[in-house]
Amino acid sequence: MSEFILGIETSCDETAAAVLEKGCIIRSNVVASQVTLHAPYGGIVPELASRRHLENVLPVVIQALRQAEVQLPDLGAISVTAGPGLVGSLLVGTSMAKSLAYALGIPLVAVNHLEGHIRAIFLEHPELTYPYVALVVSGGHTHLYYVPEEYIYRLLGRTRDDAAGEAFDKVAKLLGLGYPGGPAIERAGAGGNPKAIAFPRSYSGNGSLDFSFSGLKTAVLYYLEGLGYKIQRSGETKFLPPELVADIAASFQQAIVEVLTRNVIKAAKAKKARLVILAGGVACNQLLRQHLRKGAEEEGLEVLFPSPSLCTDNAAMVAAAGYRRLLRGERAGLDLNASANLPLC
Ligand code: KG4
Ligand code: ZN
Repeated sequence: MSEFILGIETSCDETAAAVLEKGCIIRSNVVASQVTLHAPYGGIVPELASRRHLENVLPVVIQALRQAEVQLPDLGAISVTAGPGLVGSLLVGTSMAKSLAYALGIPLVAVNHLEGHIRAIFLEHPELTYPYVALVVSGGHTHLYYVPEEYIYRLLGRTRDDAAGEAFDKVAKLLGLGYPGGPAIERAGAGGNPKAIAFPRSYSGNGSLDFSFSGLKTAVLYYLEGLGYKIQRSGETKFLPPELVADIAASFQQAIVEVLTRNVIKAAKAKKARLVILAGGVACNQLLRQHLRKGAEEEGLEVLFPSPSLCTDNAAMVAAAGYRRLLRGERAGLDLNASANLPLC
């Protein structure tokens, strides 16, 4: 196999392609964001996402090859996200990957998007050893795994309703902060008081490591209504004073970060894992990083976060995960299908 692998990622609203050399050197990592397309709706519109992927996928692949200074015949393999995600979006990436692999006569490998997120950390810390606990925390997922060895993922807990990123996005919409909500809440909350409002922290009982964030989102809604604000049909609240927005954003962020941190530390202790890995878009959040670092330090654990550009959806992580699977002989056929609910196991 040649030393270059092309990764393709289209599971949600980013069209991404990347070229890795020897499975770990990032030669290019191109992401075409659809944020402005979906921003007016306060969230992703699946039909629009798949149409935009169709327009973007070829130019993005070409750009990734150009930036890497690699030609199509130099590629040794193609790795693509096969799920989970929006099925229409996934199909664009898998069709592109299958066509290229067939035309070039090179191996194709299918990657689970969540494994991609987790493997992002290996691009910056290739020496990592097992076991570890990994939290994938994004717009679609809040999944906590115990990873005793490579390719084994034991689900310890997951959200029972909204994903953490989804809660950030929904609360940002309520506060009129726009989409994506995570960075907007982080910015708005910077000047606020995280203790101003005691929003609920929801911990599942009976030793469960599951999460629940829909109550927190509803608590923000009721808080605004309690102050006499009317929520518009669009889901936004008009004419909120900036100081109030700052306090709500800071207090909401504090609540969500405390819950995530507590469960992750609890999981690492229960599994006697010394290493904790964070992955996914919400792992960009600075307060979450601070809290986890502090919590981990107190327990003598090591905690690692990918750089922000490797936390949010990207194709370098998909190429990295695919490369490892190719090495152990995995191949996908041209009958590869996208799977919206592909489990990680
Ligand atoms: O991993 P990702 O790019 O896509 C999915 O697989 O979902 O994650 C996107 C999510 C969005 O919900 C976004 O609001 C959230 O990650 N996010 C953040 C931050 N940056 C992105 N949440 C909190 N704080 C941030 N700084
Ligand atoms: Zn993702």
